[in-house]
Amino acid sequence: MKIIIDTPEKVAEMAAQRYVELLKEKPDAILGGATGSTPLLLYAELARLNKAGEVSFAKAKSFNLDEYVGLDGTHDQSYRYFMDKNLFEHIDIDMANTRVPSGINTEIAAEYDKEIEAAGGIDMQLLGIGNNGHIGFNEPGTPFGSITHVVELTESTRQANARFFESIDEVPTHAVTMGIKTVMNAKKVILIATGKAKAPIVREFIKGAVTEEVPASVLQLHPDVEVFLDHEAASLL
Ligand code: F6R
Repeated sequence: MKIIIDTPEKVAEMAAQRYVELLKEKPDAILGGATGSTPLLLYAELARLNKAGEVSFAKAKSFNLDEYVGLDGTHDQSYRYFMDKNLFEHIDIDMANTRVPSGINTEIAAEYDKEIEAAGGIDMQLLGIGNNGHIGFNEPGTPFGSITHVVELTESTRQANARFFESIDEVPTHAVTMGIKTVMNAKKVILIATGKAKAPIVREFIKGAVTEEVPASVLQLHPDVEVFLDHEAASLL
């Protein structure tokens, strides 16, 4: 696991360069996307680089990590909506090549893995990390062998995400997420964590035991992981 520590802006720039390098080498790369507050600076930088002609997503395909159960893509808190507004509408990706798991047709969740496999597998998966160590919506205790599945969100995750909704009651109780195995199948993983609140879990997933109780700790077993941290998130390392 390679650890890179800098300011949030530099972290976003360096992570964006990974996309530039990958897409230069493989223009039709398969990208794994994440939502949340953490990737916003990165997505803004990717949009800037795309407009400047330094990177093209025209042939790329994208598979997002997760979606809330019950929200369709027109809901402004759905992850499909988030991706469209924060990235896809600002870059030259073909919308037909962007996939987010369906929060409505959840009975076909496991087919997402087959789709990813049929596309050739994810070349680079972007991750954030939850305060409880979740990656995607794989909460503590999720089996490392899991593929895309429906999960019940923990109270702590619903509380953490309530800031985006009018009240906690509106935060969905379930989500569909790539599994741990789906994430581990990616050829390369980049994880970004910023801010003081993430410092304890950053220390735990990097330095602690590999355990299903800390889902991100599984990344210690992945051959190609880069962790981008700002100084606050790295402060307990
Ligand atoms: C989002 C996702 C989550 C977030 C995590 C951190 O698609 O899969 O695992 O990455 O909850 O969220 P932020 O970035 O909002 O702190």
